[in-house]
Amino acid sequence: MKLKKSKNLYKVGIVGATGLVGNSFLDLLKDRKFPISELKLFASKKNVNKKIIWNKKQHTIYKLSKKNLENLDFVFFCAGSKISKVWAPIAKKNNAWVIDNSSQFRKKTSTPLIVPEVNFNKLNINKKTIISNPNCSTIQLVAAINNLEKKIGIKSIQVATYQSISGAGHKHLLSLIRDSYNFSKKLIKSKNFLKLKLSEIIFPKKTSLAFNLLPCIGGVNAQGVFKEEEKIINETRKILQKPKLNISAFAVRVPTLNTHGEAVWLELNKKITKPELLKIIKKDKNITIIKKNVALTHFAHQKPNVFISRIRKNPNNQNSWLMWITSDNILKGAALNAIQIAERIIK
Ligand SMILES: NC(=O)c1ccc[n+]([C@@H]2O[C@H](COP(=O)([O-])OP(=O)(O)OC[C@H]3O[C@@H](n4cnc5c(N)ncnc54)[C@H](OP(=O)(O)O)[C@@H]3O)[C@@H](O)[C@H]2O)c1
Repeated sequence: MKLKKSKNLYKVGIVGATGLVGNSFLDLLKDRKFPISELKLFASKKNVNKKIIWNKKQHTIYKLSKKNLENLDFVFFCAGSKISKVWAPIAKKNNAWVIDNSSQFRKKTSTPLIVPEVNFNKLNINKKTIISNPNCSTIQLVAAINNLEKKIGIKSIQVATYQSISGAGHKHLLSLIRDSYNFSKKLIKSKNFLKLKLSEIIFPKKTSLAFNLLPCIGGVNAQGVFKEEEKIINETRKILQKPKLNISAFAVRVPTLNTHGEAVWLELNKKITKPELLKIIKKDKNITIIKKNVALTHFAHQKPNVFISRIRKNPNNQNSWLMWITSDNILKGAALNAIQIAERIIK
């Protein structure tokens, strides 16, 4: 089935255009000159009929309806699972490619879960369908280890994630900023602030995003595994096509604004030297190895690549390596990966 083209231009919809990922889609479509003939934006009731300026033109925000989703070639969904569950199948039925950022369809065997540089070949580009964009932590992990898996083979992965608050959407991002400000203001106002003892500081009673680490992202299952950890495990297995891969994950929400970090223990199928390892990873132009410094999470902010630093051999296992992987969760972890999928489809 061919795309509805008008001189190789495409009609594109963004569902959730006012959110963090939606905004990133708007920037990327412009910056990467995605060939667009029509852009249709959707958001919740409170924003319907408001205007967004994109590429110097005003665009109205539409309500989701069967009719409003007609005649689109690509629809990017970034409004959460509930919205995707109802509206993504309708957009597909209306003959669009659907690229969904939520977790709604990721586990379905029939739904392709795609990181273009890793497994684009799993997508049948002659059949329009719903494509799932993987979870942000999964994308940066599989992108970083892709070449090692293909050249050497991976035996096991242990990963601890340090996930910024932007991963939870714009409301939580604003809450973190507000809570940090209020808490700091209160402390600074207290007499002899610089002489305060830790015992004199009253921590907020309710769960605070500010100055706190939350090792509990999403709901928990009977085995004590949280949703975010489950996603990393299941999605990595699905993308690498290794349903029995030995992988465990520990996901922690940290009070930073943007970009996720991951401490990874990676066991390969055989022993290789560090120069060999670096050479294999470096072959992928989307990966940047930072040799001399540490790739702090700020460093990856607004950058398209996945950064790897602190690569070193595990002294307890000759085949195992430790590394620090960081990437912008809104870009490669969401909107950029989705646009790269669409770009490969139209190529
Ligand atoms: N943030 C990340 O790092 C990241 C990474 C990977 C995947 N994702 C996924 O991407 C999706 C969006 O995340 P986000 O961080 O951008 O969230 P967000 O900042 O909270 O934005 C949510 C968007 O959904 C829209 N929306 C809510 N209810 C709607 C409705 N009934 N009809 C139409 N639109 C509606 C909102 O519109 P209003 O502004 O009008 O409320 C807003 O545009 C989620 O599924 C998330 O899991 C996020």
